[in-house]
Amino acid sequence: MVCQKYFTLNNGAQMPAVGLGTWQSSEKDDTVYKAVKAALAAGYRHIDTAMMYGNEAEVGRGIRDGLKENGLKREDVFVTTKLAPIDARPEYVPRGFEDSFKRLDIGYIDLYLMHWPVAMNPETRQLFPLRPDGSRDVDEELKGRFEITWEAMEKLLDTGKVKSIGVANFSIPNLERLLKTAKVVPAVNQIELHPYLPQFKLVEFCKSKGIHCSAYSPLGSTQSTLFEDETLGKIAKSYNVSLAQILISWGVTRGSVLPKSVHPERIASNIETVELKDEEIQAINDISKTTTKRFIRPNWGVPVFDEDFE
Ligand SMILES: NC(=O)c1ccc[n+]([C@@H]2O[C@H](COP(=O)([O-])OP(=O)(O)OC[C@H]3O[C@@H](n4cnc5c(N)ncnc54)[C@H](OP(=O)(O)O)[C@@H]3O)[C@@H](O)[C@H]2O)c1
Repeated sequence: MVCQKYFTLNNGAQMPAVGLGTWQSSEKDDTVYKAVKAALAAGYRHIDTAMMYGNEAEVGRGIRDGLKENGLKREDVFVTTKLAPIDARPEYVPRGFEDSFKRLDIGYIDLYLMHWPVAMNPETRQLFPLRPDGSRDVDEELKGRFEITWEAMEKLLDTGKVKSIGVANFSIPNLERLLKTAKVVPAVNQIELHPYLPQFKLVEFCKSKGIHCSAYSPLGSTQSTLFEDETLGKIAKSYNVSLAQILISWGVTRGSVLPKSVHPERIASNIETVELKDEEIQAINDISKTTTKRFIRPNWGVPVFDEDFE
């Protein structure tokens, strides 16, 4: 059945449980445009993009046309985009947001996330700037003070162009730091979540603070080893569904889930979830006792993930 579950965020906004991921979905040859339209036709009501994915304009075109073709209204769809680390200086936040807003061209943004708790030198306009010695070109002026980036993001709410703000890739120590000064508690923390990286402590911490967790790379991204997992394979077989569907079905028991695909048949099946039994959820929860893996670990040159602080 097409998953029709919604989560209520801490400001009352309703977020559909399954969203289409669009990282590495090319803006060329209508690839991401077609993926977004296929998603809306298949029943998705949630699309995730970012400035860093370089595809906002095509995602926006796909949403506008997909809404028309499926007789949907703008408010039927929840759209997320993200502030890039090169726009982290407070004075650049409004520009970064405005650029995304214009590229998407869908009237308003449902959720705007700080993509990483890091700030890169904005002068080069490169997404991963390097210094001549090969080290990451972090923004020395900002010195990782993401609190002031957040303060600038809070002000975006006054524009009415964005309904909710949140963060991504925030660990417990970084959230604790942010919450000391935040006037607005982030609505969402978008983090890598799947059976090899269930992040129980971080998810529990977010829950205790009213922060919703969205699962990125729920299928293990492009280098996934989850598809060879025996426990997942057995459960998938018993329901006669794909292993991806089991990953997503487990994911939506915890929070929202953002599977990416550019193939219409995968896009359609990924949102068809099954109701897992408690013992199956437990068996999937237990997988990380023997196998753990973080698939997404860019080297930003500063500590980011919980294990970086241990
Ligand atoms: N906030 C962040 O820092 C952050 C980081 C990473 C990701 N994200 C978001 O989360 C989304 C999802 O993460 P992700 O793109 O890293 O990875 P993912 O959704 O875990 O996996 C995508 C990979 O799985 C394949 N796939 C999709 N459906 C499948 C199926 N039914 N069976 C087998 N393979 C399947 C896709 O290939 P095809 O496309 O060829 O089908 C692609 O190679 C991103 O697109 C992005 O929107 C956010």
